[in-house]
Amino acid sequence: MPQELRAVEWTGSGLALIDQTLLPQRTELRSVHDVDALVDAIQRLVVRGAPAIGAAGGYGVALALIEGQRKGWSEAEVRAAVARVREARPTAVNLMVCVDRVMTRFEEGLDAVLEEAAAVQREDVAANRAMGAFGADWLLERVGGDRPLRILTHCNTGALATAGWGTALGVVRELHARGRLEVVYADETRPLLQGSRLTAWELVQEGIPHHVQVDGAAAGTILRGEVDAAIVGADRIAANGDTANKVGTVGVALACADAGIPFLVAAPTTTVDLATKTGDDIHIELRAEEEVLEWAGVRTAPAESRGHNPAFDVTPGRLITGLVTERGVLEISAGELPGDRLKQ
Ligand code: MRU
Repeated sequence: MPQELRAVEWTGSGLALIDQTLLPQRTELRSVHDVDALVDAIQRLVVRGAPAIGAAGGYGVALALIEGQRKGWSEAEVRAAVARVREARPTAVNLMVCVDRVMTRFEEGLDAVLEEAAAVQREDVAANRAMGAFGADWLLERVGGDRPLRILTHCNTGALATAGWGTALGVVRELHARGRLEVVYADETRPLLQGSRLTAWELVQEGIPHHVQVDGAAAGTILRGEVDAAIVGADRIAANGDTANKVGTVGVALACADAGIPFLVAAPTTTVDLATKTGDDIHIELRAEEEVLEWAGVRTAPAESRGHNPAFDVTPGRLITGLVTERGVLEISAGELPGDRLKQ
């Protein structure tokens, strides 16, 4: 991905988002100048990925202030608009964390709000770089030997899903930069194809060898011994290590456990929600049935069928070999729990 292309960019008066619904066919920026447009962009996955919607949500506070000034809103109306941004999607805790952080500067006015939103964005890029190094070090020490690694990933966790560089895909990029990556298996990620559309697009930009495979191929590829480790991102990590991520993730983790290979989660500490004790307490977004009953807008399932479309699933902590954060690697299945190790 060219350095200047960023999923979330403040233009001075609004947000410019890379419209991720159009990739890889078209690379278009969507201008967002009001709260309704931002909520719509988050809900339709124009901007997506936990850290990226966190960054967009942070700037959403600025958008609400500017729109409020333009339309003569009361403070209560501005706060209500911010609350709508905060609740646009329920699972990724980064959205709530980043909005709340920027709101701590609300009383100081627009400049302070923008300063905080920019800090959120800057810190996310730095966290991703640190995770890349920690994750690559861990993999090379534990799995590496002398041969380059074969890594499986699910969904998209790259520059598009973050403020820049990527979490799990940041580790992949770091391995590639060190000349220690053989190939990436990118699960296509049904039903919205974040893997085949977005991860593959990013891997092409980076010149990283990869195969796109259907989600149903992942377990077989792992059990046949064609993968050295799997690494994924996260939308919310509970205090006991249970992790919500894109639907299909738990199947990858089960296959890794059976094959005896590492299953890593890479996420900044902003994704760890110590107030959520276990995965049972995580709100899993249920999306529209049409996303699974149709293909490119054409009905594929019988008219009588109902769809079931959870956007995420929860991987129990016992299946997670390591959680890579910007502070290092916690070996969760060996008992290093976020609730014990990441208290502020
Ligand atoms: O529905 P999405 O595309 O927002 O889901 C994204 C994921 O599940 C990612 O794996 C997660 O947000 C981590 S992104 C660094």
